[in-house]
Amino acid sequence: MLSLDHASRGARPLAWAFARSLEDLDEEVDTPLACDLGEAPSALNGLLFRNGTGRLSRGGVTYGHLFDGDGMLSRFTFERGRVRYRNRFLRTREWVEEQRAGKIVYRGFGTNIPGGFAQNALRLRFKNAANTSVIQHVGKLLALWEGGLPHWVDPASLDTLGRYDFDEALIERHPVLRHLAPELPFSAHPKFADGALYNFGTLLGAAPQLLLYRVDAAGVMGPVERVVLPALSFVHDFVLTERHRVFVLPPVAFDVPRALLGLVTPVRSLSSAAGKPTRVLVLPRDAPGPARWFEAPSGFVFHWVNGYDDGDAVVVEGFCAREMPLAASVSTLKEAPPLGLSASRLTRMTLTPGQTKASLSALEGWHGELPQVHPLYRGKPYRYAWSIGTHDGAGEGLFDHLLKFDRQSIMVLSHRFEGAQLPGEPVMVPRPGAKAEDDGWLLSLVYDGEAHRSRLYCLDAATLAVCARWSLPHHQPPGFHGFWQPLDTGG
Ligand SMILES: [Fe+2]
Repeated sequence: MLSLDHASRGARPLAWAFARSLEDLDEEVDTPLACDLGEAPSALNGLLFRNGTGRLSRGGVTYGHLFDGDGMLSRFTFERGRVRYRNRFLRTREWVEEQRAGKIVYRGFGTNIPGGFAQNALRLRFKNAANTSVIQHVGKLLALWEGGLPHWVDPASLDTLGRYDFDEALIERHPVLRHLAPELPFSAHPKFADGALYNFGTLLGAAPQLLLYRVDAAGVMGPVERVVLPALSFVHDFVLTERHRVFVLPPVAFDVPRALLGLVTPVRSLSSAAGKPTRVLVLPRDAPGPARWFEAPSGFVFHWVNGYDDGDAVVVEGFCAREMPLAASVSTLKEAPPLGLSASRLTRMTLTPGQTKASLSALEGWHGELPQVHPLYRGKPYRYAWSIGTHDGAGEGLFDHLLKFDRQSIMVLSHRFEGAQLPGEPVMVPRPGAKAEDDGWLLSLVYDGEAHRSRLYCLDAATLAVCARWSLPHHQPPGFHGFWQPLDTGG
């Protein structure tokens, strides 16, 4: 294996930078940021919240998977050209316990407790890493992790106020299951529509289930819908259109007995069943109605870009890889990220009533991830999408561009960050009062490997020209998702 020591930095600068970004961050700060390039747009006033992995080890032991990193929130306050930054770890009960113990006490998605079988067998209370995304609904700021409950956070101090179960709607009612795993999963990709919040969770077991949630505009969760699935799968995201909910179930398999017995971590129990078809479930959005099932070619989508109703058909678009790219451990990533991590093309799936097969078409030329659209176009016909990405066939297979997809002209605009820089999810912020769908800004946290520091970039969403840049006082390990909250509006 190529080791990413100093000598290999020239050969694979992005892989070297990615490996360097995985260093733990312990520091929590609350500080103004100086603009060191360009000028903050005067109309950019609001709060950018982001979630991600603050640290990837405990007591000298590196976590087994990037998804096990301890959740850390960041908040950037934009006010009349000034920017203030605060970061704070989620004080989950697991974080507090492990911090006190100075060692790994909980299992994770890709991490077992040191000590082998005796320490891990039948231990189903996994660490809630609270690290994947952050949303605000009905004034409540929630840090999300797909395997368990959200955490409620004070938006001013970023203090963790506790687990949030929507008045026990997310507490398992079955007495035996409640003893083993009392908290229901709430995915990190809920969708907003008409003031309500829609989400899902997946329950593993002999009869795997999809749990469907709807939280109304007053913040009250309705009865949980349960759909029994034909097979175990791995679903990270879904699509909500004006009339439908779409879940795409890729062909993956969990070796549940080995994972339950603690012989392997959940991620090590996963195996790709590439070649087998993907199943697609289309459900009505609100009114009760029949489930419709489709089959699609094998593939794996972490993130859906968007989707919309097209007559009776439903169109969904996401970044589709050939198979699930989950295997690499943090130690492997620190040594040398595998080439081809990013091989995921923008793919359109059309689901037409009366047919059993989904039709697919992919856009060649670019790979992407962490997509965003204008918030008012979510679930509706749209023209533009933004993402991180790289050109098909680029040597290192890591994302060093921000991309803008124009679905009408089939054009892709790109901005490459020079040197050993890796951008994060570009949050799209519409310009107040704008009419055009691409009139606004992109806010992306970019890791600079040379300086070992993260910088917040503001780009023009139409042209991808850099408007402004602010350097943080430290680096941040890879983050996942965030959102923009304009000032002077409710949640
Ligand atoms: Fe995600």
